[in-house]
Amino acid sequence: MAARDQSALLLLAAVLLLFASSTATAQQQQQQNCSSAKFSAGRSFQRCTSLPVLGASLYWTYHAANGTADVAFRAPWDPSGWVAWGLNTQSAGSMAGSSVFIASQDGNGAVSVLMTYLESTNPSLTNNTLKIAVPVGPAAEYSGGVYTIYVTVALPGNRTVQNTVWQAGPLSGGAIMPHPAAGPNLQSAQKLDFLSGSRITGTGAPKSRGLLSRRNLRGFQG
Ligand SMILES: *[C@@H]1O[C@H](CO)[C@@H](O)[C@H](O)[C@H]1NC(C)=O
Ligand SMILES: *[C@@H]1O[C@H](CO)[C@@H](O)[C@H](O)[C@H]1NC(C)=O
Ligand SMILES: *[C@@H]1O[C@H](CO)[C@@H](O)[C@H](O)[C@H]1NC(C)=O
Ligand SMILES: *[C@@H]1O[C@H](CO)[C@@H](O)[C@H](O)[C@H]1NC(C)=O
Repeated sequence: MAARDQSALLLLAAVLLLFASSTATAQQQQQQNCSSAKFSAGRSFQRCTSLPVLGASLYWTYHAANGTADVAFRAPWDPSGWVAWGLNTQSAGSMAGSSVFIASQDGNGAVSVLMTYLESTNPSLTNNTLKIAVPVGPAAEYSGGVYTIYVTVALPGNRTVQNTVWQAGPLSGGAIMPHPAAGPNLQSAQKLDFLSGSRITGTGAPKSRGLLSRRNLRGFQG
């Protein structure tokens, strides 16, 4: 009896060790990738995660003392399109209720950022209507086919676990047009723990049709 208990314990210990070492390896890899990414103006970030869709990745440094996170959102996209990143303070897995930073550029390559709260899937896209505090930034750049948005946000409620969202879509005459309402554009939401770096899965897919869905095209063209 006792011997069997012991071997069960040993087995458990071995499994735990294996788990711990694979976690450590994954963390090391992630660390390496984070530190190898280059950012302008000497910026660097402590953590990163590859987001599951749209080729996007998120880099950040979390400051526990004041509940802020310095963030860089990176996504490869066409220069004639927009990309966005933000936090949903209302619900997980949807674009409506999110405070987002939308980067786009004019014909001369000047990149600007719209900071807007998405009140519905047919948002007004009014600048400076965020429902989160932004102590620093935002700033954005487009280089080598990739947009990067830099911003420091105060994590709402001083909680480290947040509903993050991201998107990419087209422009028309400089105006932000709806993103596709299918495939990856409906999977671009994720709960993220800014402290541990863990992605919390299971609440990923937006329930609604997302930011600027095609159904609403007429709505914000006019
Ligand atoms: C880090 O980069 C290496 C090589 O580029 C890649 O094989 C690995 O999957 C990446 N790891 C993570 C966690 O993204
Ligand atoms: C946020 O929470 C941390 C503890 O996790 C605390 O030390 C800090 O004072 C809080 N910051 C704010 C701005 O409430
Ligand atoms: C939004 O407003 C800020 C200043 O409040 C400005 O810097 C930024 O360029 C504006 N964004 C757009 C897209 O006009
Ligand atoms: C938050 O704390 C970090 C690290 O202590 C500091 O660098 C940063 O300036 C602070 N941000 C704000 C908005 O106070």
